[in-house]
Amino acid sequence: MNKKILITGGAGFIGSHVLHLMVPKYPDYQFVNLDALTYAGNLENLKAIEHLPNYQFVKGDITDADFINNLFEKEAFDGVIHLAAESHVDRSILSPMDFIFTNIVGTVNLLNAAKKTWSGQFEGKRFYLVSTDEVYGTLGKTGLFTEETPYDPRSPYSASKASADHLVRAYWHTYHMPVILSNCSNNYGSYQFPEKLLPLAINNIKHNKTIPIYGDGKYTRDWLWVKDHAEAIDLIYHEGKTAETYNIGGHNEWQNIDLIHLLCEIMDEKLDRPKGSSAKLITFVKDRAGHDRRYAIDASKIKRELGWQPSLQFAEGLRKTVDWYLDNEQWLENVTSGNYKSYYNQQYAERT
Ligand code: NAD
Ligand code: TYD
Repeated sequence: MNKKILITGGAGFIGSHVLHLMVPKYPDYQFVNLDALTYAGNLENLKAIEHLPNYQFVKGDITDADFINNLFEKEAFDGVIHLAAESHVDRSILSPMDFIFTNIVGTVNLLNAAKKTWSGQFEGKRFYLVSTDEVYGTLGKTGLFTEETPYDPRSPYSASKASADHLVRAYWHTYHMPVILSNCSNNYGSYQFPEKLLPLAINNIKHNKTIPIYGDGKYTRDWLWVKDHAEAIDLIYHEGKTAETYNIGGHNEWQNIDLIHLLCEIMDEKLDRPKGSSAKLITFVKDRAGHDRRYAIDASKIKRELGWQPSLQFAEGLRKTVDWYLDNEQWLENVTSGNYKSYYNQQYAERT
């Protein structure tokens, strides 16, 4: 029997990569991409696959329970890969309620609709929540997040994602809903909205604008190429064990300031500017409130049980990423027109 899969948030950064991978790979499946097209969602991200016969786009908001119930009744999905979210920590500090509605209420709306349509017939069904390593809180100089690390979210974003994780697990324990989860580290690559560190810095360097570095710049993140995350999501959806959680990471820790220096070297070379010119744009600004010091993932479970590991060396991935943003000038211009400017001014005006 053919499968019908709902992908939420497919017009965003990671969701579009999941669709790029899975739609051509599984021609016997039907994919429905449900996305509200917030500032972060962009159908331009899906140009390469939108013509395929097993792909369909539906515009809709996961916070609208009636709409979600009707969609599930009409489409009778076999599976859900849930990525739709408000995803930016700085925006969650400015405006927490959007995160509560989309990340928590929206997730429960999807769980309820799946529970109702599947009504206890769970054979062949799966509800997959794509989550983040930020639910685990922050690390000191050593140690890694494992699947057993207790939750300790510290921003409105991570607290809302942690709530969604708990609710998904609660639907397994209470209703036997066949759920699965993954918690991934920071992604980088094409189609990432330029509010996140790397595309923001690439865009600013290109336009000779300052690169804002929060606090002392010694905050550490574990960076993973987004296409490797998409591969992991496909694998977990198909081969992961029900009710389990898989941590996904790049074994690739960088302090922000070192990462930005590496980026500056690559940008000087690609833009044919004198060595050191991009680094002159680095500007230390006021720190993020409640800034988590270090994230790092122990991804040994997914390697051991499902055979996944990152495919790409970071230096190569970063170069590919820079090339993509420089080659896709129109995409960058389109997403940074309009509301981007007012967000940028609000976010960075008081920091410098
Ligand atoms: P993104 O912000 O780029 O995309 C989110 C998408 O969700 C957008 O297309 C947006 O239009 C859509 N959306 C937002 N609110 C919606 C609503 N109410 N109804 C329907 N659609 C809505 O995010 P991303 O970086 O692609 O992240 C995708 C998922 O992966 C999120 O759940 C995020 O928490 C998780 N994650 C992200 C990272 C990362 O580094 N970006 C790392 C780990 C986990
Ligand atoms: P970000 O890309 O927002 O991801 P997250 O907060 O989910 O890890 O930020 C990555 C790191 O870069 C984080 O330590 C905050 C820092 N940062 C800056 O120093 N300057 C910036 O302008 C931004 C957006 C982030």
